Amino acid sequence: MSTFRIEVGQDGVALLLMDVEGESANTLRADFNEEFEQGFKKLSEDPAIKAIVFASAKPDSFIMGADVAMLARVKTQAEATALARGGQQAMQRLEDLGKRKPIVAAIHGPALGGGLELALACNYRIATDDRRTQLGQPEVQLGLIPGAGGTQRLRALIGIAEALDLILTGKSVRASKARKLGLVDEVVPRAILLDVARRRALELANGELKPERTKINFKGGLPKVLRSMADTEVLQAVALEENPVGRRILFQQARKALLSKTHGHYPAPEKALEALRIGIEKGAEEGYRAEAQLFGELVVSDVSRRLVEIFFATQALKKDQGVDEPGVKPRKVQKVSMLGAGLMGAGIAYVTAEAGIPVRLKDKDDAALGRGFKQIAGILDERVKRRRLTRRERDEKLALVTGATDYSGIKNADVVIEAVFEDIKVKQGVLRDVERETPQAIFASNTSSLPIGKIAEGAQHPERVVGMHFFSPVNKMPLLEVIRAPKSSAETVATAVALGKKIGKTVIVVNDGVGFYTSRILAPYVNEAAFMFNDGAAVEDIDKALVDFGFPVGPMQLLDEVGIDVGAKVAHIMHEAFGLRLAPPAGFEKLVESGRLGRKSRKGFYLYTEEKGPKVVDKTVYELSPQGQKRSSPPHAEIAERCVLQMVNEAALCLGEGILRSARDGDVGAVFGLGWPPFRGGPFRYADSLGAAQVVERLRRYQDRFGARFAPAPKLVELAKIGGKFYPA
Ligand code: NAI
Repeated sequence: MSTFRIEVGQDGVALLLMDVEGESANTLRADFNEEFEQGFKKLSEDPAIKAIVFASAKPDSFIMGADVAMLARVKTQAEATALARGGQQAMQRLEDLGKRKPIVAAIHGPALGGGLELALACNYRIATDDRRTQLGQPEVQLGLIPGAGGTQRLRALIGIAEALDLILTGKSVRASKARKLGLVDEVVPRAILLDVARRRALELANGELKPERTKINFKGGLPKVLRSMADTEVLQAVALEENPVGRRILFQQARKALLSKTHGHYPAPEKALEALRIGIEKGAEEGYRAEAQLFGELVVSDVSRRLVEIFFATQALKKDQGVDEPGVKPRKVQKVSMLGAGLMGAGIAYVTAEAGIPVRLKDKDDAALGRGFKQIAGILDERVKRRRLTRRERDEKLALVTGATDYSGIKNADVVIEAVFEDIKVKQGVLRDVERETPQAIFASNTSSLPIGKIAEGAQHPERVVGMHFFSPVNKMPLLEVIRAPKSSAETVATAVALGKKIGKTVIVVNDGVGFYTSRILAPYVNEAAFMFNDGAAVEDIDKALVDFGFPVGPMQLLDEVGIDVGAKVAHIMHEAFGLRLAPPAGFEKLVESGRLGRKSRKGFYLYTEEKGPKVVDKTVYELSPQGQKRSSPPHAEIAERCVLQMVNEAALCLGEGILRSARDGDVGAVFGLGWPPFRGGPFRYADSLGAAQVVERLRRYQDRFGARFAPAPKLVELAKIGGKFYPA
């Protein structure tokens, strides 16, 4: 055996170690089955073995789950169902063996998906109190459900409510939480994990230890994920009852609540619910059968395929240095200096300190600096409240950030990031200061619209200037767009990329140009919504069409959140740079002139009152549009299509012009930076799914009606001609 190793001790406990060859982490693959069988045989037949401890031989990972590449290779539903059946059978063998020779799972590092399912099939689970130890069923994040018995065993172990909470959200929990849930039986320091596991295994074998387990129950009421969304009174009442009627209502309501959240775009959570229901109503065997069946359906579904592709894209980006020149080494970054302690500056300082890197924060005066520190402390305090950090960890992180109102203390910064006002003169000014104060440092600008090459004009070392475009709120938004100016050196870019990854971001590198990539494709999308507004569409119809398409919020609400003035400013910059194609509709500036800036001025497309409840359109906004109160919206599908095609077309232009390095980066940028619906894979995957010819034809139809702004990108036309794809098979 190469993947599984058995070491039998004097005490009669066999240590079964998993160690997938050539990988840093363990994943489960169907081709281990044979080895697994051989292992079973030995464990089962060797009379010297009384009990078993299952552990990982990898330093910091238990089992990450099933091998996603294996799932991606599956062609048919039947094949996928068979895969799940195989997994279920292996787990069942484990469970059956455990009835004769107890098995303790000794968990250190992530035990996710199939890794947790394996642990669930053991008799007893011990986890380390280490931060790296995480338990969860993240399958829904790939559009799947647990397929190796997880939907049945998890529920049996911790109850319906908590099992649903884990399976429907895909979140993972640390050991202490897992202990509270009953997911693990004990939590111990890492140093004694195997010793304790051996002891417990023997105690179980001798009958000295009889773990008490929660029974199936609704006692906790509804799972958290559904509680806030459901008709709580009815539900709380029935949820307390362990009766079939109550359960039926529970599942009906849960499905309804789920649908309101997923808009029907993500089938996996619903199927998970279904597998659990069948298991409860018809028994475990039927439950397993349903789980495998539904798993099979999901593996070959478009939604799961798209989510898996995004997963692979982010994995590939983790290994991508961001430059194509060979042999480039990023500089080691031990200290960062942050200029500007505003909304963005404080956010960037926070994520940097969070990653353990000391930050020097500079702003003009003490008041501004104070606001920055307050913002950072606020985020840390929130994490303490949510028990993600201890008080001590919070203090340690905060201590990594120091402040000044001058350039003292930035001398030894490796990277200086600026997030001062969006003004070319101010940015060029601070770049001059930095070159004087800390000549060796890399200078990164967080500008949202100014070309980096322009900021670097007049710099002594333009090769050390780069863009690092973060998104707001920095601590939550996963994307970092690194911008390579014509003179940025490969080392500078690679350093910005490495730093971005270190602080937990998904990083794409794009070439310099107005709006880079993300702001650029957002502009025509929002413009199109603005055109429809001007032509008489109702605000709620525009937003609903795009939310139904899968965006988290519609373009009008987005404008309200970002600031209508900010939107108008960007639109102006884009118009200037790209001409008529990106011209905003005439008269839109009237909104800004009338003081309607969106949420921040409490006056926008929507009403901002103290009352809670669904958003209500501020109908007085229509007075500022040419059609006045007379509203008539294009059909739902047309609204979504026009906005989305604008984004797709602009993305294709960016690829054609070399702003993007690849379609992959464009898809990741749209999904992680702009909220493009992940189940649609990104603008390029979406174009591929329609076919370039289809996209071009639709664009041309709109071009006939609305003019040149819909002229198809040359790249699309080219692909349409040859029947090509952005992602060749
Ligand atoms: P902000 O107005 O909240 O913060 C700017 C800060 O810079 C202020 O505290 C100001 O006192 C300080 N400052 C101005 N001149 C300075 C100087 N010479 N030295 C040191 N500090 C100075 O603005 P915000 O929103 O943080 O934006 C900063 C930059 O980030 C802008 O370039 C903006 O375009 C960009 N950005 C903003 C995003 C957003 O969503 N707000 C998103 C991505 C980029």
